[in-house]
Amino acid sequence: MKQSDHQSILIRQPQILCVDSDAAGLALLEAVFTPRGYGVIQAGTGLQALEILSKEPVDLILLDAILPGTDGFTICARIRDIERLRDIPVIMMSALKSREDLLKGLEAGADHYLFKPLDHDEMIARVRLLIGRKKRRDTFDNLQRDMNALTVLEEKTLDSFSPSHFDFQPQFERIIVLLLRRTADILDKPRVLIAGLLTADDKARWNQYEYAFQDFSRMKIAYDPLAGVDAAQPGGQKIFFLNNESTVLSTKTILRNLRARNVTVENGICYLSQDLCLMALNYGQEIGVNELNFFRHICVQSRLLHTLSSMRNIAKAFDYGIYALSRTAEAVDDEGGNHMHRVGEYCGIIAERIGMKEDFIRTISLQAILHDIGKIYIPAHILEKKEPLTAEETIEFRKHTFWGAKIIGGHPYMRVAQMIALNHHERWDGTGYPRGLRGDAIPIEARIAAFANQYDALRMARPYKQGIDHATVTKILNQGNERIRPHHFDPQVLRAYRETAFLFEETYERRKG
Ligand SMILES: [Fe+2]
Ligand SMILES: [Fe+2]
Repeated sequence: MKQSDHQSILIRQPQILCVDSDAAGLALLEAVFTPRGYGVIQAGTGLQALEILSKEPVDLILLDAILPGTDGFTICARIRDIERLRDIPVIMMSALKSREDLLKGLEAGADHYLFKPLDHDEMIARVRLLIGRKKRRDTFDNLQRDMNALTVLEEKTLDSFSPSHFDFQPQFERIIVLLLRRTADILDKPRVLIAGLLTADDKARWNQYEYAFQDFSRMKIAYDPLAGVDAAQPGGQKIFFLNNESTVLSTKTILRNLRARNVTVENGICYLSQDLCLMALNYGQEIGVNELNFFRHICVQSRLLHTLSSMRNIAKAFDYGIYALSRTAEAVDDEGGNHMHRVGEYCGIIAERIGMKEDFIRTISLQAILHDIGKIYIPAHILEKKEPLTAEETIEFRKHTFWGAKIIGGHPYMRVAQMIALNHHERWDGTGYPRGLRGDAIPIEARIAAFANQYDALRMARPYKQGIDHATVTKILNQGNERIRPHHFDPQVLRAYRETAFLFEETYERRKG
């Protein structure tokens, strides 16, 4: 961006819409306001004024009561009826010193009424007052809106939070779009944000964010804006203004670092904590307490997100523990662990299809792999036997459900795994084991896993049986055979299978090992 563009965006004059049929009167108003730092837009009729208002941002309207066509009173009333324009201050003017007109103007919603010939000093004082008031109210309204949006985002983050799938960057970018200025006429926001994640090994990751032609853009930056600045101590976060007059050493150092990379800094705020540094640069107006507070809120929120994202490593370690545990069962029964992992995947497919929550889908996909962990207590001669098991051997074999539940234990985080290990041989019609539970008495995770396990058990080859192809297995599950009946399964699970059978086949082929 050229330096001149930058300036024009930073300095936006308040715009006064002057509506008068008298061209000389309009020229006079322009001559009064332009040198005082206001922009003047002229309109000769009320309809022209409405047309301008529909397209351009206006901060105040000077409106003559007597206009050709629709008069000023009617125009004023119409402006007050339009939501977007309602809060623009209107000063009405009239050559007639009539109390009746004055009341009519106020009735139509004018904020003030001036009689012609205009007293310029009074008019200028009124304009300044009303524009100042509007600016404060706009800032406040914007802040409220942004705070609300931020609260909604915070709530969404909490609702969907899952430690193993939490990603800092997209969450962070979702909140900083609220901070950045999207268009030139928004003055109370910064144009540029520079953000750095300060990791323990001092290798910060820096990005620069801004809206370029209304598109949110992120640019990786390779230099360190904090080079030569003392790091924040634990718990010692600082917030300070980045202004050119500052004599504080760290401010001067940061500004020098940024300028060396051609980053223009008109004004700004820097938040520096041990793990995060945010620099909001180039607000369109002086940075007030509202801007400061909102920025700080964004910074604290970003740090919270960053802290949440560090839980990912803990969640990963937890997942790792489950995989490690599952490998012990591979040693006795499932070389390579393909069966267990396929069952986990099928469970995820069904859980999703029947509309379970995301968190449940993830949990069951992971924890179902432990369903046969109890087999490590079953003697190898039973597991590997090619002939049908004797009655005693069957009793022994069925105990793998109890053993599994015992190994997994009763921690709430492992509840799904425990329920599956214990109940994955129960049947919907009550003919299963170990307890002969029926219907809804079987936990849903076990009903899903029972089906998934059955599908895979039919598909794969075992020492005592051949593998069966997908189409035949589907037929068996739907219609039954001498050992398997459709009413062994929860009807909603079976229905979900019918709708997702192709995914089962794809999973089996991909992970058949
Ligand atoms: Fe089993
Ligand atoms: Fe199994």
